[in-house]
Formats: sequence, C-alpha cells, structure tokens
Amino acid sequence: MKTLFTEKQISSRIKQIAKQINVDYKNKELVLVCILKGSLIFFSDLLKQITLPVSFECIKASSYKGCKSEGVVIFCNQELSFINGKHLLIVDDIIDTGLTLDSLVKNISSVYSPLSIKTCVLFSKKIKRDIQADYKAFDIENEFVVGYGLDYNERYRNLPCIKIYNQEHNVTR
Ligand code: XMP
Repeated sequence: MKTLFTEKQISSRIKQIAKQINVDYKNKELVLVCILKGSLIFFSDLLKQITLPVSFECIKASSYKGCKSEGVVIFCNQELSFINGKHLLIVDDIIDTGLTLDSLVKNISSVYSPLSIKTCVLFSKKIKRDIQADYKAFDIENEFVVGYGLDYNERYRNLPCIKIYNQEHNVTR
C-alpha cells in the first residue's frame, strides 16, 4: 500500500498555505467556500489555521464518477448573495481537468459580485489545462488518489493520509 502523503506532511503544508492566506487577505473581508464532499477534511484543517475573521459556506459540485471525469459539473443551486462585496476563496480537494473549478468560478461570477475570486486546492494533477489554482498544497502525477476526504465510489474518505488508488486491482497500493 503506497502512501503518497502522510498526515504529518499534509498538516505542515496546510499550515504554510494558511500562513500565506493570512497575509494575502489581511484587512480584507474573506469568505471561504468548501466544495463538498472531497474537500471537507482539507477545508476544516485549513480553516482552523486561518486567523482572520472569515465566514464560510459549503456547496456541492463534482464532475467525477468513479475514477473518471464525466465532463459535466453538477451544482447544488445555493443562495450565495452574502459573498457580494467580499473576497471569495473557493476550496476544493483536487484540480484535475479544471472543469469543476472553471465552471464554479464562471457560474458564481455570472450571478454574484464578489470583490475577487481565488481558488485553493490540496492537489493539482500535473496535466495540461487552462485554469490553475491560486493556492495549492501539492502537485501530483496523473494518478487517482484517495483518503483525507477523497473517495473512490464513496470509500476511503476516512483515511487520514493520501494513497494511490490502483484501479486494476481495486485496492490502494
Ligand atoms: P476536474 O476534472 O473537474 O476534477 O478538475 C475535479 C474533481 O474531480 C474529483 N477528482 C478526484 N477525486 N481522486 C478523487 O477522489 C482523484 O484522484 C480525483 N481527481 C479528480 C474531485 O471530486 C474533484 O473535485
């Protein structure tokens, strides 16, 4: 079973990112948005390291089924008018094709008027895409990962670390 990142590695990197966010958004009104369910654990650990007076909301969006992107982003339509006039930071677990974050940013900015929109991810897959996350904890190869909130068909979210999911053998290695 190959562990890609331990709990300790994740935790120390999250502290670094939060430190940067604390500097970047000093004296600014910041709202964080957690993209469920994958970023739930990352989000809560990050949130605890942010020392600014922030507020947050959770929304559901995904383009994935199993190990493949379906190419369609499903949103839970949610009232987000409280982000108007504030700085918005969207927190997701992973950026793969970029479809999810791209659609979210476009969708939110077409309906609401935040002062700025930035994105933060735990993982960025090393693939060619137009959109990049503004904050990222780790770059990873184009492999399917599970644990620490990330799932394969709803399993493995409770692993405290990140493992590579081996599709062929249906096990983590
Ligand atoms: P896109 O392609 O829209 O994908 O950038 C982002 C969303 O797809 C899911 N995703 C994964 N989930 N392990 C997972 O558990 C992975 O390796 C993986 N790659 C993409 C995830 O929901 C993310 O928000």
